[in-house]
Amino acid sequence: MRGVLITFEGVEGSGKTTQMTRLGRWLRGQGYRVERTSEPDGTPLGAGVRRLFERKPRPLTEVFLFLAARHQHVAERIRPWLVAGRIVLCDRYTDATLAYQGYGHGIDRDLIRELNLRATGGIQPDLTLLFDLAPGEGFRRIGRRRLDHFERQALAFHGRVRRGYLEIQRAEPKRIRLVRAGRDPAAVAAEVQRLVGEHLHAA
Ligand SMILES: Nc1ncnc2c1ncn2[C@@H]1O[C@H](COP(=O)(O)OP(=O)(O)OP(=O)(O)O)[C@@H](O)[C@H]1O
Ligand SMILES: [Mg+2]
Repeated sequence: MRGVLITFEGVEGSGKTTQMTRLGRWLRGQGYRVERTSEPDGTPLGAGVRRLFERKPRPLTEVFLFLAARHQHVAERIRPWLVAGRIVLCDRYTDATLAYQGYGHGIDRDLIRELNLRATGGIQPDLTLLFDLAPGEGFRRIGRRRLDHFERQALAFHGRVRRGYLEIQRAEPKRIRLVRAGRDPAAVAAEVQRLVGEHLHAA
């Protein structure tokens, strides 16, 4: 596949959406054809799945819901974009399920890895940016927004998610690049551009 899949990961409020917008603008300015998407709502089916989270699914149910949305997302959007040679920027992907449902809720991580493989047909990110931030700081940033189902869960849970993300990163340091997200947005954006630029020029 000719395209490039770049995923954005990190706890709530770590700056994923902010940085995806800036990176998209930077890449388009250099003439790249860029697609932006997010999980679970990257397809109409996924948007429907997202609404089901308000029904408070059990953790294993969350796994199945996210993986159902992911399979649809890869088939309908991500794979065709990659075949067409686009740079695909995706807000959360396979690592999020490992971090939230695996490390956060204690669902078997090998099961999640297996389901990720099935749902994606083996389409892995070429590059993952992990925005690392203390969860309390992330919540302060989004403090004025209404908290959703996930955000209401205890900070202890989000601490496990953060540590999980860091463990996932340590196991795959080449694919997953750690970005210290506590700095000002311009400094974070400059580092993101450096990492993405390195990746694109090495490829
Ligand atoms: N580096 C930064 N320093 C301070 N505030 C920031 C920074 N980056 C983003 N913000 C602000 O923090 C809030 C959360 O940022 P953003 O929505 O990009 O995070 P997110 O990771 O996408 O969050 P979510 O997981 O809830 O989607 C926004 O109000 C944004 O303007
Ligand atoms: Mg966001």
